Amino acid sequence: MIGFLDRLARPLLHALDPEDAHGLAIKMLKFAPLPPAPRDDKRLALRVFGLNFRNPVGIAAGFDKNAEVPDALLRLGFGFVEVGTITPLPQPGNPRQRLFRLDADHGVINRLGFNSQGADAALKRLAVRVAPALSSPARWADKGIVGINVGANKDSADRVADYVHLIERFAAVASYVTVNISSPNTPGLRNLQQAAVLDDLLARVVDARERVAPNAGPTPVLLKIAPDLSLGDLDDVVGIARSRRVDGMIVGNTTVARPPSLLETAIAKEAGGLSGRPLFPLANRMLAETYVRVEGVFPLIGAGGIDSGATALAKIRAGASLIQVYSGLVFRGLALIAEIKNALLEALDDDGQDTFKEQDTLKEFIGADAAAVTAEPWPK
Ligand SMILES: Cc1cc2nc3c(=O)[nH]c(=O)nc-3n(C[C@H](O)[C@H](O)[C@H](O)COP(=O)(O)O)c2cc1C
Repeated sequence: MIGFLDRLARPLLHALDPEDAHGLAIKMLKFAPLPPAPRDDKRLALRVFGLNFRNPVGIAAGFDKNAEVPDALLRLGFGFVEVGTITPLPQPGNPRQRLFRLDADHGVINRLGFNSQGADAALKRLAVRVAPALSSPARWADKGIVGINVGANKDSADRVADYVHLIERFAAVASYVTVNISSPNTPGLRNLQQAAVLDDLLARVVDARERVAPNAGPTPVLLKIAPDLSLGDLDDVVGIARSRRVDGMIVGNTTVARPPSLLETAIAKEAGGLSGRPLFPLANRMLAETYVRVEGVFPLIGAGGIDSGATALAKIRAGASLIQVYSGLVFRGLALIAEIKNALLEALDDDGQDTFKEQDTLKEFIGADAAAVTAEPWPK
């Protein structure tokens, strides 16, 4: 069914303006009669941030910005869905055209600028899928894991207060909350990654999480960073994330860099964040650099340029406990989800530990190549 829908939809979606195609994809997911999610092989299951993931393949923030189709996405076979970025108040984002496909590069540039229906609209949708009485991590095992990515309004007078407000409102309906300070399309947002500002932000965010925990239950707080940080800045960010006891980091968002290898040179001049295949080398390097700095204190989610089983495994080997895809779906379609899961299972079969097969899990791969990746020449 999913394969059929996918084959039917993809030529049509590719013929459309990218933003219209995205709108249509959301509509199709809202109304398509999807079967329940396929059962995953037990060896793909992982416990991360105190949550039980049935598989490590998530869909990254930005696809379902307004929490319209999280359950449909879970039915497609994702192990978790990150909705958002959600801002406190509705805002239109930047003028169109603001989303571009780099077909020859399998890349995407976006400068959407947090177009969001706002917190009220998203909260209404999310509240109906979570029974408030069950405020324990166990509830997510049945409902499926839905993380909520939050951000500040462009015109906000107090951006830190926006994050605090959103944590307070969404903790009860979120499997986890992601503090997104790494979008390149809201002017000044990435300044929140500076040490003194970040320390204050995380202190207040974690404090808000503790304050609402008696009613909302425990809510892991993750920090999503840009792949464009210098290594010196990364030292600071990881140090602060550790001292403020965040539960994990997502590495990372889109890049403002334009690798010289890009073939679509005209579209590459568009302002915005680049994602997809051309982002992979930088994102993977920053993931490994983060992994060696975190020293196992908290887990990482790897995102950026995953478009095959091999790139998914490489992310895990560079330090990711979980992975997220977005742009790869544009070019590879929904078949990518099963392809990644199959490749991970094959890697477990091929690991030479045949006698202990039942005990094999993905854990053995996490960070196995991190040190080696950090020793490579810096990616161009
Ligand atoms: C169209 C588009 C919109 C995005 N919107 C968001 C967003 O709202 N919040 C966010 O944290 N990341 C957003 N991202 C970044 C993705 O979540 C992801 O970090 C990035 O695209 C790298 O993964 P990929 O190469 O698999 O696409 C967006 C990406 C794209 C392509």
